[in-house]
Amino acid sequence: MQLTLNSGPGKNAGIFIGSSVFHDLNNFLGNLSSATSSIFILTEPKIRICCLGPLTALVPDLYNAEVLEVQGGEKSKSLESAETLWNTLAAKGASRNSLLINLGGGVVTDLGGFVASTFKRGIPFIHIPTSLLGMVDAAIGGKTGVNLGDVKNQVGTFHDPEAIFIHTGFLRTLDPDEQRSGFAEIIKIALAADSGLWKRLLSIPLKDLMNNTADESAWEDLISASVALKYRIVEQDFREQNIREILNFGHTMGHAFESLSMQKNGKPLSHGHAIALGMICESYLSSLKTGLDRKLRDDIIRMIFPEYSYFPLQKEDRDFMMDFMGHDKKRRGSGIRFTLLREPGTAIPGVTCSPEEIASSFDFYSTLES
Ligand SMILES: NC(=O)c1ccc[n+]([C@@H]2O[C@H](COP(=O)([O-])OP(=O)(O)OC[C@H]3O[C@@H](n4cnc5c(N)ncnc54)[C@H](O)[C@@H]3O)[C@@H](O)[C@H]2O)c1
Repeated sequence: MQLTLNSGPGKNAGIFIGSSVFHDLNNFLGNLSSATSSIFILTEPKIRICCLGPLTALVPDLYNAEVLEVQGGEKSKSLESAETLWNTLAAKGASRNSLLINLGGGVVTDLGGFVASTFKRGIPFIHIPTSLLGMVDAAIGGKTGVNLGDVKNQVGTFHDPEAIFIHTGFLRTLDPDEQRSGFAEIIKIALAADSGLWKRLLSIPLKDLMNNTADESAWEDLISASVALKYRIVEQDFREQNIREILNFGHTMGHAFESLSMQKNGKPLSHGHAIALGMICESYLSSLKTGLDRKLRDDIIRMIFPEYSYFPLQKEDRDFMMDFMGHDKKRRGSGIRFTLLREPGTAIPGVTCSPEEIASSFDFYSTLES
């Protein structure tokens, strides 16, 4: 399947998904202008082991590509890594006619997109996302970036790749927690923008998908639907001025859960796990503020809780989250702004909630501990 969609000014990023994706990539490389001087592949050690071999075996043009490696993990999304990569590209003679291929999860596509969009004022790049989160979210929509110290995504660009190639077979080696992390974004986009996709999610055998025992076409269907939705929204609002805000459903609370779990001892919540818990609190706020039917709210909770575990909140944790959201960039005026739901498939951005309303969502969340 191919989606050809407009995003940035004058841009036309083709997104290829499905079983013939390597064939599409061969065609893409074959059609590169003769001016393309060199090809670089950016990846990280784990992905080099599980994904680079199958890729170069099926795409012979990449066999001799220069492989650049960063360590896996969020720490690599830094200005230091970007500087090392700019220096390496320069030392290896990369020019404006070189192509950078970002093969990896969101860390690699965010970092590689940033490096490519700034090196020599921008060289062409493509994404081959290998994590579910990368396939449905990080690689889609043209946001690139690195963290500044502990603050995420503080420096970056809006810059679309030339093309995105999604091979669902790469998901076979993905850890189940990472699978769940990406799946939360599929739930989010369905709730924010597509009631039909939400109804499909309610009826699919989730356990099979999460354990990788489902037919691969099931992933292809869900990923294609999510990608098409995200792109439709991004096309209308590439620089996140307004409509794109509907994609923030679950994220204001979710980022607060994520940050809380990082600063407490133990294993932090994955991004998707935090967003899933954020969607529970924000569904409660939706029933309070934007008329979300309580029965529909409970459907959302039933979908989330078997897959994502409860994270307990002490009194001081609630204070931390409230402070965190108070400093969040989405805050305007005295209350805190959320994207909430009128119903599954219809999100309303910019709804201000008072500290009392937010506290009542924590009370509601606490009743769900079993
Ligand atoms: N640009 C955007 O619009 C956007 C949107 C959402 C998230 N992000 C960013 O994406 C990042 C998170 O993405 P992520 O969850 O993919 O993180 P990640 O890149 O760290 O990948 C998660 C883990 O999965 C492993 N992995 C990836 N593909 C694999 C495969 N096929 N087989 C085995 N292991 C595999 C990685 O080695 C890593 O351990 C964050 O930095 C976040 O800020 C960006």
